[in-house]
Amino acid sequence: MTHQAGVHIVSHPLLAQHLTKLRAKETLAREFRWSLKESAKILLLDALAQAPMKKIPIETPLARTEGQMLAIPIVLVAVLRAGLGMIEGMTEILSEASLGHIGLYRDERTLRPVHYYSKIPPIAPNAWTIIVDPMLATGGSATYAINLLRERGARTVKQISLIASKRGIQNLRKAHPDIEIFVAQVDKVLNNKGYIVPGLGDCGDRLFSTA
Ligand code: PRP
Ligand code: URA
Repeated sequence: MTHQAGVHIVSHPLLAQHLTKLRAKETLAREFRWSLKESAKILLLDALAQAPMKKIPIETPLARTEGQMLAIPIVLVAVLRAGLGMIEGMTEILSEASLGHIGLYRDERTLRPVHYYSKIPPIAPNAWTIIVDPMLATGGSATYAINLLRERGARTVKQISLIASKRGIQNLRKAHPDIEIFVAQVDKVLNNKGYIVPGLGDCGDRLFSTA
């Protein structure tokens, strides 16, 4: 794992393999869904590596001993639509997480996020709120989502994306300097339509076969 000023580039052979499949244009929708879901698990494991734990007494069939459990609630917030492709994998490894949804799409001309839906569970002051969106392009959607979550009481907020652009990271950290970002890869450029290059194309369209 690389760690530079709040940006964690998660390094794992299986994540690199899934990213390669996700980038390849010939990858079918069902393989795309599978690799995105599996990538999400690896990214979440890394994002939770430093989570505070509490000790609890337990009894095995043989003796009393001590175990550990997460000391904080985790709220996963999927940014629609593409974030849905990561949430299922995450809940498979963290079934106790509560789930929120924020509906945003980018205006094709201005590239600004347009908000059309949100349903956020209660967020306790000590909760870790994790925004889940595979693509961090201009950073506008993530910045919007974090503003909204802050209004709902979120204090510790993290962002998990599969691919981020350098510009997206810069913009997001400028707006929210305390946010930790976990990604599989940072790509250098955005094209004139705001797509990450090389990227993987339109994630929502590839996930839901809408292109
Ligand atoms: C994509 C992606 C992010 C956003 C990133 O959503 O899933 O939410 O773009 O771009 P930004 O960093 O420049 O804001 P999109 O607008 O394609 O909506 P969709 O997931 O519903 O297709
Ligand atoms: N949204 C996507 O789905 N892909 C990009 O490259 C940028 C925004």
